[in-house]
Amino acid sequence: MLSLMYVSTARPGLTGSEVEALAQRVAQNNARQEVTGLLAFNSRNFMQLLEGVGEKVLGVMRTIERDDRHHDITYIRQDTRAHRECPDWSMRSLITPLTGLGSASVFTGSLPRQMELDTKILFTSFASSLTAAQEAQHAEAEQRAMQDRGAAEND
Ligand SMILES: Cc1cc2nc3c(=O)[nH]c(=O)nc-3n(C[C@H](O)[C@H](O)[C@H](O)COP(=O)(O)O)c2cc1C
Repeated sequence: MLSLMYVSTARPGLTGSEVEALAQRVAQNNARQEVTGLLAFNSRNFMQLLEGVGEKVLGVMRTIERDDRHHDITYIRQDTRAHRECPDWSMRSLITPLTGLGSASVFTGSLPRQMELDTKILFTSFASSLTAAQEAQHAEAEQRAMQDRGAAEND
């Protein structure tokens, strides 16, 4: 079982809801390939885990590499594991950053119980990695996007 993880930089302006929709669409393709995993998005970067038969995972990864919704893909892990860490998720999206006391432990608790500790640590630190200033910027951008959508609906 090949287990691969990367981080990348999202195209500016990509929203959490677009990423959720993307993950739902690609889950069908992954299910056909028996590829499972997790896609985290913190409004600036992606972290994705893909696992399955080696050639299937690498095939999906070749498509992902060509996708212009992100760039600067950096592989942080590629190893063989005995068991899937996300056996029930064809592709689950987790939209972060985390805010508030206790949110990191809630986030970690929502990860699959089969997930190894090293993987849980990678995802939790990624999810916590935006600074307060960046969170404020992110909230403003979301607010603007909502207003723009509202204005477009009223046109
Ligand atoms: C961050 C990110 C993660 C993606 N993850 C997957 C994935 O797990 N599986 C997949 O098939 N496509 C994934 N895609 C989408 C592919 O790049 C591609 O758009 C999709 O496979 C549709 O390709 P098609 O239109 O040629 O069928 C991802 C794209 C991005 C930007």
